[in-house]
Amino acid sequence: MENYVEFKNIRKAFVGVQALDGISFRADGGEICALLGENGAGKSTLLKILSGAHQADSGEYFINGREMKFHSPMEAIQAGVSVIYQERQLVSELSVTENVFMEDLYCNRAGIVDFKRSHEEMQRIIELFHMPFSPQTKVKKLSAAYQQMVEIMKAYRRKSQVIAFDEPTAPLTDAEIDILFGLIQRLRDSGKVILYVSHRLKELFRLTDKIIILKDGRFVEDVRTANTSEGYLVSKMVGRNVGDTFSALKRNDQMGDVVLEARNLRGNGIHNVSFQLHRGEVLGFAGLVGAGRSETMQLLFGGDKVKSGEIYIDGRLKKIRNPKDAIEEGIGLCPEDRKEQGLVLGRSIRNNLTIPILNKISRRGIIDRKRERKLSKEAVAAYRIKTPSIEKIAMELSGGNQQKIILGRWMLADLKVLILDEPTKGIDVGAKAEIYQMVCDLAREGLGVIFISSELQEVINICDKVIVMRDGTVTGCLDRKEMSEEGILSLAMQENGE
Ligand SMILES: Nc1ncnc2c1ncn2[C@@H]1O[C@H](COP(=O)(O)OP(=O)(O)OP(=O)(O)O)[C@@H](O)[C@H]1O
Ligand SMILES: [Mg+2]
Repeated sequence: MENYVEFKNIRKAFVGVQALDGISFRADGGEICALLGENGAGKSTLLKILSGAHQADSGEYFINGREMKFHSPMEAIQAGVSVIYQERQLVSELSVTENVFMEDLYCNRAGIVDFKRSHEEMQRIIELFHMPFSPQTKVKKLSAAYQQMVEIMKAYRRKSQVIAFDEPTAPLTDAEIDILFGLIQRLRDSGKVILYVSHRLKELFRLTDKIIILKDGRFVEDVRTANTSEGYLVSKMVGRNVGDTFSALKRNDQMGDVVLEARNLRGNGIHNVSFQLHRGEVLGFAGLVGAGRSETMQLLFGGDKVKSGEIYIDGRLKKIRNPKDAIEEGIGLCPEDRKEQGLVLGRSIRNNLTIPILNKISRRGIIDRKRERKLSKEAVAAYRIKTPSIEKIAMELSGGNQQKIILGRWMLADLKVLILDEPTKGIDVGAKAEIYQMVCDLAREGLGVIFISSELQEVINICDKVIVMRDGTVTGCLDRKEMSEEGILSLAMQENGE
């Protein structure tokens, strides 16, 4: 039988926003269908309706011609729909097997869980995905990339007929992306309906058959991937011509003194990392997942204990024992995992933006609310955070807009050094250009910026210098003239002792 999903005139409003404003389209089995649109366009909301996590206000959706109305994710799963959300849903205290087999453990009527069989089946899936962990590993021990793979294994295991991926590659690197794409293509070839959301246009061209463009909760157009171009897609989703993101960039060319120096840092899987960061410099960190970039930053920011080695700020030796010490020294960090380390999801945009500057805008412990509101509004405007008000709760923003809050927060603070860990993850093409320019502007104002990214084009076009890491150590350093994708990759993959 023919396999398809069809949406008819789906509408969904939240307080102050019409997230979906009459969406209709059809996705067929045996095809990978992309959903493309700016941050806040409504992609995740549509998938949440399909997964039973939200209910539409009006409109219908059909699977193979049958109208569906899921009231909970469990109903959707039972009807053969799996959605891999943008935000991970794993239980970190439980093992890989327990997470992947969650509903079965949950549903077992006899009340007896067959762990041996579950672990064996899990092992088979792990091998299929070429992953290095075991069924018994606790999820909290896994990196963000591996946790994402566990999410995907969960959907794979259910043998769903409809599988939707909401930015699955955001935490992954190339090797893992290759594995994932291979699997998605196999799922497609077996006739499943695949919906795929990503802001990385190159991925859409590599993977998808059809692209649905959404804007402000409306359907704009559907195009066959083979018959379209990046420029066309961007102009349709943004509603204007964006041009080349990098060529218009105004970079800083005045470098100052060394503001931060790390000497022989060790701790948490990091061996002997040394580097210097100047005022006004954008210093890139490249490497594969697990190379130790984020771990190095945790040492600088006081998130992990430094076992040995020194950190100098403005030439003075500093002991950074915790993030509070780091912030007092003028170091800011935008973490990779916004949910775990960045945002206070239950608080307003205003609260989240002003966390690092509360001291500055308070007098005798009382916050100057007027100033707080003014600064928050400025940050919302500067970063084009899409929201009806600064009082909106962070949890209710789209993924990309949450990311912008984390960046906007540091724009307000008084910093010497800003560490950005994958800052454009989940950011749409139009807003990316704005973030690049902001990074360059911060450098022009004299900040030292550390820029971690897995997108090499970003590193090459924004950074003055790039440090390449592998297995917790520095394998090389390239300046602007020496940078190339091949050069960085070969350092990132270099075997020890070569
Ligand atoms: N639970 C919620 N409560 C209130 N508003 C919400 C909620 N979830 C989403 N919204 C709003 O609905 C709109 C669409 O959000 P959605 O998450 O679907 O966007 P998206 O296309 O997935 O964006 P992104 O690319 O940033 O992930 C946004 O304006 C968002 O703030
Ligand atoms: Mg989303």
